[in-house]
Amino acid sequence: MASLPGDSIRIAREYLDSLLVESRIVGASRPSARFDFLGCTFDTPIMTAALSHLDLSGMAEGARMANAPVSIGMGGNDEMGKVLSTGAKVIKIIKPYADHGEVFSRIRFAQEHGALAVGMDVEHAIRADSPEADNINGLQMKLPSLDDLKSFIRSTSLPFFIKGALSVQDARRCLELGCAGIVLSHHNGLMRCAVPPVRLLPKIRAAVGKDLLLIADGGMESGYDAFKALALGADAVTVGRALMPALKENGAQGVCDVITAMTNQLLAMMYRTGSPDLKHIDPSVLWEKDR
Ligand SMILES: Cc1cc2nc3c(=O)[nH]c(=O)nc-3n(C[C@H](O)[C@H](O)[C@H](O)COP(=O)(O)O)c2cc1C
Repeated sequence: MASLPGDSIRIAREYLDSLLVESRIVGASRPSARFDFLGCTFDTPIMTAALSHLDLSGMAEGARMANAPVSIGMGGNDEMGKVLSTGAKVIKIIKPYADHGEVFSRIRFAQEHGALAVGMDVEHAIRADSPEADNINGLQMKLPSLDDLKSFIRSTSLPFFIKGALSVQDARRCLELGCAGIVLSHHNGLMRCAVPPVRLLPKIRAAVGKDLLLIADGGMESGYDAFKALALGADAVTVGRALMPALKENGAQGVCDVITAMTNQLLAMMYRTGSPDLKHIDPSVLWEKDR
């Protein structure tokens, strides 16, 4: 099928594919993908994306089996409760509901029921091709003001992530607001003509240093994609669509298998590039393909 003009998914894919990796295998030691994140230790920085309208409990259970963090998207507190009861370490991404009661109720529930963190996908507040506020399944969205965001963040002791921040300016604002981190995302092309999230990582990392956790979202199809994002400054990556067929076919085990396979690819690339752990992936191993 012909790609749409401004197709951010295709643009991001082309950017990831344009990055090549040199080998630094001579004398390398076997690496570890141990991931220390928000006070927990995981076996991988490859986490599930904030998906919705599918078997989120199966997805969370699969990530738990792989000892990976989970983010989940739209849904009510009942569904969040089922996901949390799997024992997975969950970041609940809350929609930018116009009704702030909906937002506060989910933040409160997440905190009371042991979520790892909460966040908001501000990128879904407005429609893709018009400036109107979005309406998702009959629920009205509204882009929160800075004061709104401040009140969400201050209402909880949980770390707060803003999903959809996609520039140095956005990242700096999130830091000033008191966010723990951002998810760099164009939300499946909802933002047209988007700079690939991974391409923005070095600039954002240089601007915010270690003060903000950076999670790269969008188009991660392999551990090699994850490696490139980590080399460019991401703390973690999310995987959405690439998990969905396995979830549908094999449930939690399918999700666990995909995360494990991607983590093995990541580890293979870390080994070949002499990267002993996640904190020591040298960005200079990456090359830009001649165009
Ligand atoms: C079926 C589906 C449902 C999604 N639901 C949400 C959601 O509720 N909240 C959210 O922040 N993002 C949602 N997303 C977007 C994903 O979190 C992610 O940003 C996007 O899919 C890009 O990642 P991917 O290329 O790995 O799929 C959804 C994506 C898909 C495919």
